[in-house]
Amino acid sequence: MDRFIIQGGTPLEGSIAVSGSKNASLPALAACLLTSEQVSLDRVPAVRDIQTMLNLVKHIGAEICVEKAAGKKSRITIRAAEIREPEAPYDLVKTMRASSLVLGPLVARFGRARVSLPGGCAIGARPINLHTSGLEQLGARIRQQHGYIEAEAPEGLRGADIIFDRITVTGTEDIMMAAVLARGETVIRNAAREPEVVDVAGLLTSMGAQIEGAGTPVIHIQGVATLHGASHTVIADRIEAGTFLIGGALTRGDLAVTGCVPEHLRALIAKLRQAGAEVTEAADTLRVRTPNPLKSVDVTTEEHPGFATDLQAQFMALMTQAGGISFITETIFENRFMHALELARMGANIRLEGRQAIVAGPTPLSGAQVIASDLRASASLVLAGLAAKGEAVIDRVYHIDRGYEKIETKLAGAGARIRRVSAK
Ligand code: EPZ
Repeated sequence: MDRFIIQGGTPLEGSIAVSGSKNASLPALAACLLTSEQVSLDRVPAVRDIQTMLNLVKHIGAEICVEKAAGKKSRITIRAAEIREPEAPYDLVKTMRASSLVLGPLVARFGRARVSLPGGCAIGARPINLHTSGLEQLGARIRQQHGYIEAEAPEGLRGADIIFDRITVTGTEDIMMAAVLARGETVIRNAAREPEVVDVAGLLTSMGAQIEGAGTPVIHIQGVATLHGASHTVIADRIEAGTFLIGGALTRGDLAVTGCVPEHLRALIAKLRQAGAEVTEAADTLRVRTPNPLKSVDVTTEEHPGFATDLQAQFMALMTQAGGISFITETIFENRFMHALELARMGANIRLEGRQAIVAGPTPLSGAQVIASDLRASASLVLAGLAAKGEAVIDRVYHIDRGYEKIETKLAGAGARIRRVSAK
C-alpha cells in the first residue's frame, strides 16, 4: 500500500488546476445505462472510484472507450446497447457504495436490478432505504435477500409524488434517473440541491429527459419513452477545490485554485473570510492568502448550500492553527471525526463530544506517522502534514486515490515537499 512522505513548512504558492467532479461523474456514468445510444463524458477525473464504476457498467454490459488525446483531458464514451447482467455484485459494491446509483437506471431501462447492499462504511451506517422506498413508490417490487437488494418492475415504472424523509444526494439522483423513463409525472420533494444533482439533471435533459427544478427542494419529472445519446462535460470538483483552498490558508501561502466554480463554494469562502483569510475570486479562479493570524470560527455541516460535510475534516485541520476555540458540528454522518485522533497525534488539541469536535488553537503541529481512514480524512492529514514541522508519513493513501487525481503532483507543483512511496 502506498504512503505519502511530507516535509512540512513550505507554503503553497502559485496555482493548482481542479479536475472534474467525482461525485458528478459517478451518477453520469450510471445515467449512460438509460439509453442504448452512445454518451460521451468529458472531464471525468482519473480516480479509483471512477474506475470502479467503469468496471461496474462494463460488467452490466456497456461498451466503454477512454480516449486520451495528448495533452487533453480524457473523454469517456459509453454505449449500453444491451444490458447483459442487471446486477452490481458485492465485490464491486463493497469498494464503492455509490454503486447503488445503478439501481434506478437498471429498473427503469431493464425492468429489474440486483444490487449488493453496500455494507458498512467508516463514516457511518449509510443505508440505502430511501433509494429503495422511492423505487417502491414508483411501482417497483423490492426484496432483500442474501445481502442483495432485488428490484423488479416488469410492467415498467409509473410516476409518483415522493417526499424523502431526509435529504439524500445519491438518493435524489437515483430516483431522478428512475423517474425519467416512468409513465407520467414524478415529483421529488425534500430533494438534494447539490451542484452534482444539477449536473446529472443537465446530462439527462440533454439525453431527452424532461426535468424541472433540479437544484431546488422540489424536482418535477415528466417521464418519456426513451432517451437518446448525448455529450456532456462534468462540472469542476468543488470538494477538491475547497481542499486546496484550505491548504493554501493552512500553509499561509498564496494559492490560486483554477478551473473551479466559486458559486459552489460560498459557504467555505464565507468561513475562510471569517477566519481572517483573504479570498478573492475571478471567473473560474479562487485565490487565498492569509496575511494575518487565523481566528477560530464555528462550523456546522449542512446539506448544500450549507457547509459541505466533505470539507469538514480539512477545515478542522485549519482550525488547529487558528487562535481560540472552534466548535465543529457534523450533522450528516454519525462517525466522521476519525481524522481528529490522527490530527491529535500531530499535536492538535481536539476534544470530541458526540457530533461535536472542539478545537483549541493554535497548537504547533509536528510530523508523525498517521493513518488515513476515509477519503476526506486522508485529505485532512495531507494538509496537516504540509503545515507540520518535520516529516509526516501518511499510510493507506489508497483512500485518497479514490477521489483526488494526482494530488501529490498537484501539491508539489505549488511548492509542497510531498512524495509517494510504495510500501512493501
Ligand atoms: C453523497 O453520498 C456523496 N457521495 C458523499 O461524498 C457526501 O459526503 C454525501 O453525499 C453528503 O453530501 C457521492 O455523491 C457519490 P446521502 P450519499 O445519501 O448520497 C443518510 C465523498 O467524500 N441516508 O446524502 O451516500 C446517510 O446515512 C463522499 O466524496 C439514509 O439514512 O449521502 C447520511 O447520514 C463521502 N438512507 C445522510 O442520509 C438513505 O437511503 C446523507 O447521506 C440514504 C442516505
